[in-house]
Amino acid sequence: MTGSLEPRPLHGQRLLVCVGGGIAAYKSLELVRRLRDAGAEVQVAMTDGAQQFVTTLSFQALSGHPVRTSLWDSAAEAAMGHIELARWADRIVVAPATADLLARLAHGFANDLVTTLCLATTAPITVAPAMNHRMWQHPATAANLAVLRERGVQIIGPEDGPLAEGESGPGRLSEPGDIVATLAGGHAATAAARDLAGMRVVVSAGPTYEDLDPVRYLGNRSSGKMGFAVAASAARRGAEVVLVAGPVHLPTPAGVSRVDVRSAAQMREAVLAALPADIYIGAAAVADYAPRVAVPNKIKKTGEKLELDLVRTPDILAEVAAQTQALKLVVGFAAETENVEHYARGKLKAKRLDMIIANRVGIAEGGFESDQNALTAYWKDGEREFASAPKTRLADALMDLIVERLNA
Ligand code: PMT
Repeated sequence: MTGSLEPRPLHGQRLLVCVGGGIAAYKSLELVRRLRDAGAEVQVAMTDGAQQFVTTLSFQALSGHPVRTSLWDSAAEAAMGHIELARWADRIVVAPATADLLARLAHGFANDLVTTLCLATTAPITVAPAMNHRMWQHPATAANLAVLRERGVQIIGPEDGPLAEGESGPGRLSEPGDIVATLAGGHAATAAARDLAGMRVVVSAGPTYEDLDPVRYLGNRSSGKMGFAVAASAARRGAEVVLVAGPVHLPTPAGVSRVDVRSAAQMREAVLAALPADIYIGAAAVADYAPRVAVPNKIKKTGEKLELDLVRTPDILAEVAAQTQALKLVVGFAAETENVEHYARGKLKAKRLDMIIANRVGIAEGGFESDQNALTAYWKDGEREFASAPKTRLADALMDLIVERLNA
């Protein structure tokens, strides 16, 4: 069976991207590019503030259309009046939506082109907020958001993580890939469905580092992107998510509680401590072997050869699957360079899993580090293939399958 991932999920959609005046405006360039890659026709309108951060020329080049900035531009109005533009759009996407812009939208202002377009349209509106974390947490912003939500405006993000001004907290614009994934069909619906509400999901992600001495370790190429995307997707569907993360530099997805670990032994301890849960998803690339001992001082260069004494690490996934407590679904990942199905099914059986998600690694695109991946899910009497797509999107498609298997 083949998954239903179309390469251009926004094909034929006319999207008007309204760019607000925040530092995250630079990410909207990427957003426009990705929306077009997904098949959408895109026009861009910018606030005065947005033009302080990014030029109209950049958006013009990426969207393939002249960029609108003012209500009072007679040449632009002659080509396509702003009411016509508001009517042209199948959806308006405001990204980044600053605190000021959210406030003006909530109160129905029409004091510049962007707010006028939003007021004049009958198309659905999506906002992707981005701002300082204190502004995001201010009751005024929360109240404005509540008004917009009540009015049916779709809100994507923001994410938790490092902010431009050197602080950290909720306020980062969602990644362009996540915004596109949410806009792409079923994902808005799955986000709204919250079909994992009331469930506890434990996800492992990233590599483990096994220390040899105070300066060296054995690690692997896992970036954590796949596991973080899975955790984010489960949280969007309403699950209580614990993400046990190896050493990676990724922001914590919204609504996810994160435990940082370094070694396989620490990961095992954190995963077992996070149980009981309804679902366990092992996306981490856990070291299979670790040094018998991490020596306290730096290993000196002495002979021609250095032999390492490595011992097997505990298999966390197999241990979780063997738990007697009521886990409803245990899902493993398998990173393989050859005979993918054979080895993946072998792990499915040997570790007594409900499902295993295989990906081919060691190739140019996909697997470790890359933003893209291609996956095949195997379970006892079935399989499903997911064609190459951004990990964020694959994670949503995997969660669809996980929900399906839960209800099977
Ligand atoms: O992090 P990214 O850069 O986004 O890359 C994603 C990924 C390639 C790491 C991910 O998609 C993936 O395949 N993760 C599993 C990688 C792996 O270690 O595969 P494995 O075949 O060696 O292990 C099989 C399963 O057993 C995995 O679920 C693993 O988490 C688990 N395991 C392995 C060893 C061990 N000691 N304990 C475990 O729990």
